[in-house]
Amino acid sequence: MQRTKVKDLLTGAEAGKEVLLKGWVRTKRGNKFVSFIAVNDGSTIHNLQVVADTEKFSEEVLKDVTTGAAIAVTGELVASQGKGQAYEIQASAIEVLGKADPETYPLQKKAHSLEFLREIAHLRFRTNTFGAVFRVRNSLAFAVHRFFNEKGFVYMHTPIVTASDAEGAGEMFRVTTLDLDNPPRTEEGKINFEEDFFGKATNLTVSGQLEGELAAMAFSDIYTFGPTFRAENSNTTRHLAEFWMIEPEMAFYNLKMNADLAEEFIKYIIRYALQNNREDIEFLGQRLVEEDKSKPQNERQEMTLLEKLEFVVNSSFERVTYTEAIDILLNSNHYKKKKFQYEVSWGVDLQSEHERYLVEKHFKKPVIVTDYPKDIKAFYMRVNDDGKTVAAMDILAPGIGEIVGGSQREERLDVLVERMKGVGIHEEDLWWYLDTRRFGGCPHAGFGLGFERMVQFVTGMGNIRDVIPFPRTPQNAEF
Ligand code: 4AD
Ligand code: MG
Repeated sequence: MQRTKVKDLLTGAEAGKEVLLKGWVRTKRGNKFVSFIAVNDGSTIHNLQVVADTEKFSEEVLKDVTTGAAIAVTGELVASQGKGQAYEIQASAIEVLGKADPETYPLQKKAHSLEFLREIAHLRFRTNTFGAVFRVRNSLAFAVHRFFNEKGFVYMHTPIVTASDAEGAGEMFRVTTLDLDNPPRTEEGKINFEEDFFGKATNLTVSGQLEGELAAMAFSDIYTFGPTFRAENSNTTRHLAEFWMIEPEMAFYNLKMNADLAEEFIKYIIRYALQNNREDIEFLGQRLVEEDKSKPQNERQEMTLLEKLEFVVNSSFERVTYTEAIDILLNSNHYKKKKFQYEVSWGVDLQSEHERYLVEKHFKKPVIVTDYPKDIKAFYMRVNDDGKTVAAMDILAPGIGEIVGGSQREERLDVLVERMKGVGIHEEDLWWYLDTRRFGGCPHAGFGLGFERMVQFVTGMGNIRDVIPFPRTPQNAEF
């Protein structure tokens, strides 16, 4: 017999028929006469209730039907008399496929803390919260591909191992096969990477952008969606050492077109999740409502998760220049009362407290900040006519801060080379990148969306470690 997934069984399409259910036991309760077994198979947040008359099933079989066990159930799908579900299975046969010793199985019926669940990340998929989070993550990933595919963008796989440092920022993970105990040395005593696997020093990529730009100079519109790696020692709720990024790159786009695309894209993928994962999002929203009850009034959310997401897809993002943003901060009561920890003045980078003030207190919606001082941004961003700022844009989201970073690119060879010199990047190392400015270069732009920060925004999860299956952070690469 064909197995049917819980999601499909719950539609009742097979009511009155014999069905086969397979999944993991969430709970078992009952009395002398009957056992009620809640089974989940990951296809939906809901469980399917299995009713097993003790007349039909000996204690011998039922004793192994414990929380966490994998079982197969055959029986009739019937309308449920009980509350909480429309359909249930009246079991005629139960097979235990995999036992889960109740003495040692770490997931109990009671609610576990997210911190504890991080320590058993190999099992946390089996909780309601993580089931919902990763189904939403899946939908968002699918929506990313659908959005760009509908617009005729070409999906590019840019390399994971690279010899270039795209952001010019350092903080990369070295990739090597050299014997670390006894590496080959040059005459000057430095490590000789010419003898390394690739004949040069290589790292894990921090961004696919530079290679993405090369492809945009042929396909017009491309995007990447892959893992990126940053060895920054930031132990925050917004940073991972390994995270996924979506980087579209478009020929013939200026900064405004870039911002328009980013806004449309973000709304599209949120809308897709709202349409396809409503129950998961409602569940996650309810979680936040419960969490809020233990917080002081002034720290509670003004909107539910669903309301927040509906609001974001239905309103336009605010757009301000960096210079305007600094003015807003300087004129705020928050600043006058000296509540910002970090300095606010033209030329310094916005800290997360500033970003959050702008989105959460001042505008109360996503904000696109453009035209940052050139000294605090990457070398490839196009220098504006004022000579002081670049055509950069960051998108800031409520509760998250920076979710997108992007820019129009510097297409003028001489200006670009000058900028590279300024930050100490050698022309020889990026000769291939510079070639696009030599041969058929054109105005172009792109951005990078941090996928986990996006998943955080849609699920309302407070810690980025809870929206990627197996987080990599400083001192942490278990699983
Ligand atoms: O602003 P970033 O560094 O931009 C780039 O990498 C550009 N090459 C993008 C482009 O123009 N093609 O990173 C882009 C986004 C950030 O806005 C943030 O959402 C996310 O990536 N991000 C991180 N997410 C999780 N953990 C980290 N350590 C992150 N660093 C950046
Ligand atoms: Mg950035």
